[in-house]
Amino acid sequence: MSRKPIIAANWKMNVTPSEAVTYLDSFLGTFKEAVPVDIVIGASFVTLPKAAELIGPNPAVSVAAQNMSHEASGAFTGETSAAMLNDVGVDYVILGHSERRSLYGECDSVINKKVHATLAAGMKPILCIGESLEEREGGKLESVLSEQLEGSLADVSAEQMADIVIAYEPVWAIGTGVTATSEQAQDTQKFVRSVLEKLFGGDVAGATRIQYGGSVKPGNAGELIGQPDIDGFLVGGAALDPTSFAEIVSAGIAG
Ligand code: 13P
Repeated sequence: MSRKPIIAANWKMNVTPSEAVTYLDSFLGTFKEAVPVDIVIGASFVTLPKAAELIGPNPAVSVAAQNMSHEASGAFTGETSAAMLNDVGVDYVILGHSERRSLYGECDSVINKKVHATLAAGMKPILCIGESLEEREGGKLESVLSEQLEGSLADVSAEQMADIVIAYEPVWAIGTGVTATSEQAQDTQKFVRSVLEKLFGGDVAGATRIQYGGSVKPGNAGELIGQPDIDGFLVGGAALDPTSFAEIVSAGIAG
């Protein structure tokens, strides 16, 4: 089954609205027309309106938030709702990133609520899963990933899966410069797809896009995208430079 690759920048807590102007001026110069990959820019809440405005109706590039409240509105100081993200033109919401899980205590049941709120608002979740080094070395890789998928995707229908992207990000490869080998990433993502098959059936598993994330760079993107179960990337550090992110996208297009 052919799946259109999706390559996303996760700027994390970097790139101010003013810096986004410079970045996107450079990046959008390269990507104006439709290309055979979906490109996503994941910006902070304050940078999102500027990013969405600059990107405009672009056939290749869309915008992602990096988190969202599952609550619709009300007394939740510091939180941001689906309606607010919709209002500024957000298409995707990155959910359950390992930094949200480990630094802010997000668990699968909260992430699951956010997945449902994102879908209900007509946006697309990019659901992050991944194991720590300790879990991998302790033989818990498969149980950890299965639990994250089952918990975060509870009560999601097979039809709704068409709007969900999974990002496999081994925690030990995030921001460390240590990339999973293409074999490790492929083997794990094949396993992730087998879990999706158990949960939703073969058609959904075959159609779901699974990104790899963790120290993706221009130098390793080509080999990674060549793996049959890697359908794109979620890129942190190397996406902070528009030229380097453009090279990763080009590797995906050449893929
Ligand atoms: P790095 O690409 O900096 O390792 O970050 C990966 C990541 O966490 C993307 O969400």
